[in-house]
Amino acid sequence: AVPAIIAAVMGYLSGSVPFGLILTKLAGLGDVRAIGSGNIGATNVLRTGNKGLAAATLLLDALKGTVPALLASHFLGLEGGVIAGLAAFLGHIFPVWLNFKGGKGVATYIGVMFGLNWQMGLLFLLVWIATAAITRYSSLSALVAMVVVPLVQWAAGDHKVAVLAALMSVIAYVKHGANIQRLLTGTESRIGKKG
Ligand code: G3P
Repeated sequence: AVPAIIAAVMGYLSGSVPFGLILTKLAGLGDVRAIGSGNIGATNVLRTGNKGLAAATLLLDALKGTVPALLASHFLGLEGGVIAGLAAFLGHIFPVWLNFKGGKGVATYIGVMFGLNWQMGLLFLLVWIATAAITRYSSLSALVAMVVVPLVQWAAGDHKVAVLAALMSVIAYVKHGANIQRLLTGTESRIGKKG
């Protein structure tokens, strides 16, 4: 049990680093939580107009899930990777440093998938990109991918990672409540438009 607890703590600490907030502050753009959706993720960083910073946020928020998931699966096997990955995802959404008010988990979800089953990370990205190309909604693209990925994973027989993905999808759906509301009322902001 001790290695699993260490994997969980390491994963959580890694996931809890709010890169979007840190990068925008370092760039002198102020508090990203004061603009757009108020979220700390790459989509909202993009609303500052700085594409490079948004890309860096996406990459770092993903890597903070990939690294603990990979490390823990290397040393402890797949179960350890699942624990560390889930912990990183929860760290991003509930960071102790921000009074447990973190992000929505999409980038970290993708990163965890790449760490545990890279084909599923790729599938997530492809579904996200295809949906975004058609609709220009970041939130909707994630919401679609978060249904497809656990289902395909389960069908492919990767049951442990499929259960993890399904759990992360449920939590991320709850965190996207305001986005879902805006999508239903036609007021969600599209990629490439500020606000
Ligand atoms: O990654 C979160 C994304 O799905 C929505 O972001 O800022 O539009 O709420 P945002």
